[in-house]
Amino acid sequence: MAEQTASLALDFLGSLRRTHRCGDLRSSDVGKRALLMGWVHRRRDLGGLIFIHLRDRTGISQIVFNPEHDKESHAKAEQLRSEYVIAVEGPIVQRDADTINPNLATGEVEVLCEKLYVLNTSATPPFVLDEDEAPNVGEETRLKYRYVDLRRPRMQRNLILRHKVSQAIRNSMSGQGFLEIETPFLTRSTPEGARDYLVPSRVAQGSFYALPQSPQLFKQLLMVGGYDRYFQIVRCFRDEDLRADRQPEFTQIDLEMSFVREDDVLGALEQVVKDVVEAADLPAPEFPLPRLTYAEAIANYGSDKPDLRLPALTRVNDLFPDLDGGLPLVAVRIPNVGQLSRKEREQFRPFGLERGLKIFDDPKGLEKKFPEAMAALKERASLGEDDLLLIATPAEKPAGPKPEEEALHAIGALRLEAGRRFADRHGLLDPKDLRFLWVTEFPMYEWDEGEQRWFAAHHPFTSPHEDDFDKLESHPHECRSRAYDLVLNGVELGSGSIRIHRRDIQSRVFQSLGFSEEDAKHRFGFFLEALEYGTPPHGGFAFGLDRFVMLLAAESTIRDVIAFPKTAKGADLMCEAPNTVPNRQLAELGIALRRPQ
Ligand code: AMO
Repeated sequence: MAEQTASLALDFLGSLRRTHRCGDLRSSDVGKRALLMGWVHRRRDLGGLIFIHLRDRTGISQIVFNPEHDKESHAKAEQLRSEYVIAVEGPIVQRDADTINPNLATGEVEVLCEKLYVLNTSATPPFVLDEDEAPNVGEETRLKYRYVDLRRPRMQRNLILRHKVSQAIRNSMSGQGFLEIETPFLTRSTPEGARDYLVPSRVAQGSFYALPQSPQLFKQLLMVGGYDRYFQIVRCFRDEDLRADRQPEFTQIDLEMSFVREDDVLGALEQVVKDVVEAADLPAPEFPLPRLTYAEAIANYGSDKPDLRLPALTRVNDLFPDLDGGLPLVAVRIPNVGQLSRKEREQFRPFGLERGLKIFDDPKGLEKKFPEAMAALKERASLGEDDLLLIATPAEKPAGPKPEEEALHAIGALRLEAGRRFADRHGLLDPKDLRFLWVTEFPMYEWDEGEQRWFAAHHPFTSPHEDDFDKLESHPHECRSRAYDLVLNGVELGSGSIRIHRRDIQSRVFQSLGFSEEDAKHRFGFFLEALEYGTPPHGGFAFGLDRFVMLLAAESTIRDVIAFPKTAKGADLMCEAPNTVPNRQLAELGIALRRPQ
């Protein structure tokens, strides 16, 4: 413990009661008395006077210690250090006009301390908690001392926002007649396609539960059970490679509805979006939200999660027959980047090369060679004087069954990369500009080059598009599904589908995925059986709550909107999980560890 505290006697809470929170005080309170409790955020010793910024999660109040007013508390205040926990009592007074702090909501007043209680000391915090400073340490230290990091006003804002969003969702869903029903965590493998976290059974040794990757089967079973309109704010567990927007345990807003078509589900979800954006105090998007089919999203943005804050791609094969190699020839436009040097224009060549793209980045040269085509392109792409123009096409035909789509994906990535590099100019990619859209009619199957087989693009309980039933076995790659995603600013916010509710169709889909009837029964037998007991037509959706809050909070990782997240390696640095366990515990479970090889 810090040595300066040795002589500092600690006070008990006793009968002390707060009159206000630290963020509450206003001019209208002048003349009243306050008893505040909180943490010492900052201390300034100006010879005679000591000023403390006292913080709790509602904000900061300034406390003044004047030896002429109260000698004893001034002497004690000299010993206060950052993050000590104190209670102060005294009158709320108006500040002089020249000392008003416009950066604090309480900045017009201060509390003149007449009584100081020191409730606890603190070791020197591992980093500064000042609002104005970016955290002055690496994320690892923040995560190790998460309980200190959580005191940072920014983290508090994010978690308070998360609370508001959850509340808005509960109200919105309940208001729309959805019932909140819980589903089990100790269950068996679910169909989302990631690796499972397994939990060994002590009672049935050698058997394992799997933690749910989502409540997918349970919510469908709730529809079989007659609980039309279910929702749940629920933790899901996936052992997959982690990224900024992925955690091994994360939270979904999961829902399912019976007797519905796409429009019904999307309509209910738009109401949720409306209520959430309002709760977050952000400008509402226009409803209904725009919709693109998967094919349109790929053709126009080279992505199934397009960021609409940047202009669409422009196909120009017809304008430049000399450059047309039979694959997409596409213009990327980034607006208002200003006049660029040759070096600045050529900076995307390495990025293009990595993705197998040939890039034409010299508009003046193109203009000389193809004046008419360039004039037509300017009009088609609404190209302005200060816009960046890159024309891209694959250097070689991409591998796989869908080379055209591959090419467009690569060009879509170039569009985003270019947008990001100029993001600071003219508010490009402004996080407050919330551009939602639906992407519908996803393909039913995705080809896995490694395994040389088709996988369900969403999950195997998604209904095929009714017009494509005949192609399930013969032309799987042409089959569309009834899956839809909600996309916000280039991030997949959630996804769902109209489900298969007939046993015969479910069998055909399993077969087309290469599951034998035996495999299917082994993995999902209970579910297939349930389909035989009067399953209503149904559909549903799941939002990623962490991603939703991340975007509303304008953060760039979901770790900043989760109280106790894991690192990219899946570790909890604070409580040091995962960890080894005593042999006794393993023996109880009938588990023996193989020696590390
Ligand atoms: P899906 O697998 O697309 O669908 O997940 C839905 C949404 O959950 C979020 N999400 C994640 N967020 C953080 N970390 C992760 N590891 C992670 N994985 C997914 C995303 C994603 O859009 N059962 C289906 C839904 C349905 O069909 O109703 C499902 O889970 O925002």
